[in-house]
Amino acid sequence: MMTPITLLEKRRIVLGVTGSIAAYKAADLASKLTQAGALVDVIMTDAAQRFIAPLTFQALTGRAVYTDLWRMDASAGLPTHIAHVGLAEGAAALLIAPASADAIARIAHGFASDLLSITALAARCPVVIAPAMDGSMYENEAVQTNLALLRQRGVLVIEPEEGRFASGLTGRGRLPETAALISALRYALGRSGALSKRRIIVTAGGTREAIDPVRYLTNRSSGKQGYALAHACLDAGADVVLITAARGLEAPFGAQIVSVDSAKQMHDAVLSAAAGADALIMAAAVADFRPASAAEQKIKKLEQADAPTLILERTPDILTAVHDRRQITGYPRVVVGFAAESRNIREYARDKLERKGLDLIVANDITASDAGFDTDTNRATIYDRGGGEEFLGLTSKARISEAIIARVAALLAEKG
Ligand code: CTP
Repeated sequence: MMTPITLLEKRRIVLGVTGSIAAYKAADLASKLTQAGALVDVIMTDAAQRFIAPLTFQALTGRAVYTDLWRMDASAGLPTHIAHVGLAEGAAALLIAPASADAIARIAHGFASDLLSITALAARCPVVIAPAMDGSMYENEAVQTNLALLRQRGVLVIEPEEGRFASGLTGRGRLPETAALISALRYALGRSGALSKRRIIVTAGGTREAIDPVRYLTNRSSGKQGYALAHACLDAGADVVLITAARGLEAPFGAQIVSVDSAKQMHDAVLSAAAGADALIMAAAVADFRPASAAEQKIKKLEQADAPTLILERTPDILTAVHDRRQITGYPRVVVGFAAESRNIREYARDKLERKGLDLIVANDITASDAGFDTDTNRATIYDRGGGEEFLGLTSKARISEAIIARVAALLAEKG
């Protein structure tokens, strides 16, 4: 299930599907884009229809599917009755996935002999292309030269993945998963947003504090809220540095990813990225305590008379270190903290806002089963320095992120 994404809601996305065995994956893409709120107009080339039927897309999008340049059909409510101009007109983006070598060549060279090529010629919106073909074809200079030409013209090309092909061969040329394609589309759509040219650091996930080379202490944070925040920043056009201790989550397209393990590593990464940053959003669940010393070798059961006793020490408080630095440099210009509490939420949150010198703090009640760790939803309240409170009832982590980012954008706009 895909949650609605404001950037995609009610936006018309033209999805071009071309002749590749990966065409079946475009059905999932069309479905997820529709679930996210987009109005998806699918154009299929003749070759695409040999792999998958137009009816599949029609059923998934609830909209007409375009297969024929010569059919004059005004029934789909296009801005003009001429489909080849109408489809591009007013579209938020043109996404071609999968893009075959043939489609790439046609578009790179300005062909106008099929509906998809013509739509690409007429498009004034961002164009995103996801090549998918056998590895040897993808490496071919003709394909690479055509892609370079498209990149030069501002087309966003999504690099295919390495893996096994239907032919049984392996190489680079596989269509990335739907989540990665949607992430790239969001990136292309968001570039001119309210946070365009702003540099934002987001932290995510629970840190791991080593006991020995195989064991560690960690917490229940999944990193989902932090990743949703990184996505929301990218949707608003920001340049994002995502400092993450999370595992197994899809990296948001276009974010600079810094992977860390421990609180100390996260501390160092945040402080080095903070210089000159517009905002820091500290969504990570940083360990407060770590083993005072990590054993260099695995602790062996047989060498211990009893179970070992763990002596813990405090980790550095990252937000406090950032606050000290900020008082001298003025950066990051806006700092947002999080508070996961099981009682006295308002009181603890306001105390942290003060103590850590934050502009905003986002607090949630971790005792609720539909909020907090590893859920896709959350219930949060944003507290600000002026005493204001914004309660965001039970909603998706994506929506909560959008609300936080809107506040960050407003604070940055105030600061000029
Ligand atoms: N945080 C931090 N460095 C730490 C611990 C936490 O920067 N070593 C940040 C978190 O990322 C979060 C905020 O501080 O944005 C609040 O974290 P929380 O664990 O709720 O607060 P603590 O300061 O640890 O206070 P307490 O243990 O009293 O709840």
